[in-house]
Amino acid sequence: IKRSFSSTSALNRQINSVTVIGSGLMGSGIAQVTAEAGYSVYLVDQNDTALNKALKTIETSLTRSTKKKFNKEPDHAVRYIKDTMDRIVTTTKVDAGAEKSDLIIEAIVENIQAKHDLFSKLDKISPNTTIFTSNTSSLPIAEIAEAVSRKDKFGGLHFFNPVPVMKLLEVIKTHETSDATYRTLLEYGLSIGKTTVECKDTPGFIVNRLLVPYMFEAVKMYERGDASFQDIDTAMKLGAGYPMGPFELIDYVGLDTTKFIVDGWKKRFPEDPTFQSSVVIDQLVAEGRLGRKSGEGFYNYKK
Ligand code: NAI
Repeated sequence: IKRSFSSTSALNRQINSVTVIGSGLMGSGIAQVTAEAGYSVYLVDQNDTALNKALKTIETSLTRSTKKKFNKEPDHAVRYIKDTMDRIVTTTKVDAGAEKSDLIIEAIVENIQAKHDLFSKLDKISPNTTIFTSNTSSLPIAEIAEAVSRKDKFGGLHFFNPVPVMKLLEVIKTHETSDATYRTLLEYGLSIGKTTVECKDTPGFIVNRLLVPYMFEAVKMYERGDASFQDIDTAMKLGAGYPMGPFELIDYVGLDTTKFIVDGWKKRFPEDPTFQSSVVIDQLVAEGRLGRKSGEGFYNYKK
């Protein structure tokens, strides 16, 4: 298998084929970067509408990135896009990929029951060497792994949106993930050109554990009337050097997603004062102001 990154020379040869389940925002990006690195990819979703949308998203993303990469060689760009797309097989049948893949990356809805149903099925149909992972943002990996018997071959691969652009991959080890599995996951991360960080199975791993409470602290500041949200954004961008202010970030991530993450943590860790809810966020979500995706959150994105 040809890989597009030089850092892959020490690649663990155990992974050739990867199944990505859920072809939404995250799954489509994960399938793209995995195919770009030379792996054959099965991309699974519940219906063809979702899968066709994912293929379109991937093609648009590749067109944009290859324009820069192969600036003076448009033929190379066309070839690169075709080769990458050719490595992705879409299917609504989870069995197709599961029976052949060495690594499965789950990126379906953030719902423990849905994830359990999926993994208990996968555990029965996948070869016992296949490694299972979840891209969950807010659920403990070990809790998702309760649905399978291969707990030593279960870990977390937490990507960031947009997947083809964001360099980081958090690789999560539970108490039961074996060292061999973990090594393979780290090597997979490097092979797709990401920088990996090693995380334990704690709420929010590294990035969200720090970022989400920070975003809620900013909202609290605004709720108290200490500053306008625009000024808080300006302050953090110009004073702390952050590329986005906390309110721009909440709008980008989605107010519903942010609320969902904190509500889940609050339920699990009621004693921890870091995980607090917010009246303003609850209200905006109830009004359907979910951020960029709905056209309005703290800011208005409608033209
Ligand atoms: P999404 O809603 O864009 O995509 C989910 C996809 O999964 C949909 O296309 C849906 O049809 C499909 N799906 C649902 N149940 C399925 C099943 N049983 N079998 C096959 N396909 C199924 O969601 P998104 O944002 O891509 O999130 C997916 C996962 O990634 C969640 O666990 C989320 O917590 C996590 N995540 C999300 C990030 C984000 O910024 N949105 C960042 C990092 C992780």
